Amino acid sequence: MNVYDTERMSESLQTEGYVPTDSAEDADMILLNTCHIREKAAEKVYSELGRFKNLKSENPNLKIGVVGCVAQAEGEEIIRRQPLVDLVVGPQSYHKLPSLERQIKNGEKKVEIDFPTEDKFDYLAKRTDIRRAPAAFLTIQEGCDKFCAFCVVPYTRGAEVSRPVEKVVSEARSLVDKGVKEITLLGQNVNAYHGAVEVGTQFTLAKLIWKLEKIDGLERIRYTTSHPNDMTDDLIEAHADCRKLMPYLHLPVQSGSNKILKRMNRSHTAEAYINLIGSIRKARPDILISGDFIVGFPEETDDDFEDTLDLIRTVGYGQSYSFKYSVRPGTPAAERKQVPEEIKNIRLHKLQKLLGQQQKTVQQSMVGRTVRVLFEKTGRQSGQVVGKSDYLHAVHVLGDQSKVGHVEDVLISRSNTNSLEGKLI
Ligand code: 5AD
Ligand code: SF4
Repeated sequence: MNVYDTERMSESLQTEGYVPTDSAEDADMILLNTCHIREKAAEKVYSELGRFKNLKSENPNLKIGVVGCVAQAEGEEIIRRQPLVDLVVGPQSYHKLPSLERQIKNGEKKVEIDFPTEDKFDYLAKRTDIRRAPAAFLTIQEGCDKFCAFCVVPYTRGAEVSRPVEKVVSEARSLVDKGVKEITLLGQNVNAYHGAVEVGTQFTLAKLIWKLEKIDGLERIRYTTSHPNDMTDDLIEAHADCRKLMPYLHLPVQSGSNKILKRMNRSHTAEAYINLIGSIRKARPDILISGDFIVGFPEETDDDFEDTLDLIRTVGYGQSYSFKYSVRPGTPAAERKQVPEEIKNIRLHKLQKLLGQQQKTVQQSMVGRTVRVLFEKTGRQSGQVVGKSDYLHAVHVLGDQSKVGHVEDVLISRSNTNSLEGKLI
């Protein structure tokens, strides 16, 4: 979502006359888009800002802004801690950037972290003249009402809000008009989508997917991230019946211990999650399942951790993201008895070893198979093009630029650590 937000902010400033640059030395304004999900990500902001000090002494007109969830969570504190910052803007106020930019030019410092009532997407200017890459993101839902005990999202991104169906469809159409073949629908709780159609009626995510499926030229639809409790029957059926919906599902479980799931306020058990995966696989047997895991949540014992390993063995993940629990001030779990860092390290290592083996097995099983690949760009080595398979594996083949933007059949010949190699058929 930060990638999508960054693009939208960049475009809205381009309509004000800015042009993007790859070099910080050339910039008149630097916006640092930030993540608050774990302490490490949040702390990185200050080390990055420190690196801009010299730039500001060389160019006194340079303006520096911190945007995103760290801005939302820390507000004015950022300017107190790092006075070279001119602007702090939370995720719900990006549409105010052009007017804020005019104010900071006059030497003011601005902090904008209210949750406005208007829909920022109605005001965020878009460039209509940019040709798009073949795969694009599209935010359809933001925020979260689930309040997992470890998570800052309900505080930084706010309450769950879905964009109206017509706005999503028209943005999708305009992306496709500019060359997009694959759209990933984004939301912190994307499968809780309940966008308005007209007064009084709403669409589920499944209904939205079926509507997008009718757009000519759009070939692939994905969505992320989902919560197990919002995996409705119509969405599972869409995985069976919707040709454009890709066989990949990111469905975080966080832990395999019922005690820990309860303490995390996840409102589902390990068994319910395993049954759900069973129903999804019944609908789409080849679907690749991906997950998020947290080790060392407060009060997690060795037995609880073993339950997580058992769940992973039962489910079988093709892809995963795993983290040591990170204390987030203001969240309920921050106040609880913490697991020592050494134990977290040992558990993370064990967990990642198992998940790594599973990923390898799934990738190996692709060798000898023919898969569909949407080519996105030329590769690092000359004569190579790279793209993504239906299962979201990165695939590279020998081929030229003309393949970019096209879906082709590829016979997979080799599995590398994080990608597959193959031959165009
Ligand atoms: N500590 C570690 N991991 C976290 N996540 C969210 N909050 C925390 C935290 N406090 C992880 C969850 C979530 C993913 C986006 O980040 O696994 O699914
Ligand atoms: Fe955070 Fe996801 Fe839980 Fe919402 S459902 S509180 S975004 S982990």
